Amino acid sequence: MTLDPTNIPKHVALIMDGNGRWAKERGLPRIRGHEVGVERLEDIMHAAGDIGVKILTFYAFSKENWKRPEAEVTFLMNLLSAYLDKKVADLNKNNVVFNTIGRIEDLPEMIQKKIAKAKKETAQNTGVIANYAFSYSSRLEITRACQEIARKALKGEIKPEDITEETVQNHLDTAGMPDPDLLIRTSGELRISNFLLWQISYSELYVTEKYWPDFTREEFLKGIQEYQKRERRFGLTEAVERRKS
Ligand code: IPE
Ligand code: IPE
Ligand code: MG
Repeated sequence: MTLDPTNIPKHVALIMDGNGRWAKERGLPRIRGHEVGVERLEDIMHAAGDIGVKILTFYAFSKENWKRPEAEVTFLMNLLSAYLDKKVADLNKNNVVFNTIGRIEDLPEMIQKKIAKAKKETAQNTGVIANYAFSYSSRLEITRACQEIARKALKGEIKPEDITEETVQNHLDTAGMPDPDLLIRTSGELRISNFLLWQISYSELYVTEKYWPDFTREEFLKGIQEYQKRERRFGLTEAVERRKS
């Protein structure tokens, strides 16, 4: 597979969907799909590092996912806990920075501590930034940004007429990060499911029929190849010259 090294997306966001259906098709319990799904993460981080993608944002657990059957939620929390115990060493070995977005305070306290530890232990790395969305809701993220800006306005720290798009952007969980250039969703669903609504205004969308547990390095690279065929116009009449990173 040949890729144009001058046109690699800087930030790729991934909606990791289809674990349950993957398992069901094999006569396995849904949770087995989640287990196999976790194993795909490392390949994707490697592939990203190899081709020069700087940031990956993985939709791991939505705010809405809390409403799933208790046994599945518990399993997912245990899986996250085990991931944090076992995989942080690998992240370090691969020079990956571990980061999160979403309402981390909703997670069990023991996991919050492990997340803080993983962030601290990987903060000095200089490779791919792996951003995990846990208990994430884009509408809530925007709502909370509004609340924070309103608080500052009340205190007189900012005037309403000085609130710009940049102000809002800087109050999102992704503050300081460039918007995703590419959003990938696995399992064929044509929807966004409350993910990064603000940030994907001009992202290219790529939906593959593959379920997440089948989303290998090869499939990821196919998505990048497809991205490279797109003409990004940003509302103009022809493709703007690519911003050099
Ligand atoms: C994605 O797979 C993982 C999470 C949302 C946690 P699903 O569990 O949504 O799998 P499907 O969509 O039911 O197949
Ligand atoms: C989106 O998948 C959330 C994650 C991948 C974590 P869902 O399976 O929860 O989304 P819907 O229900 O199909 O929209
Ligand atoms: Mg799903």
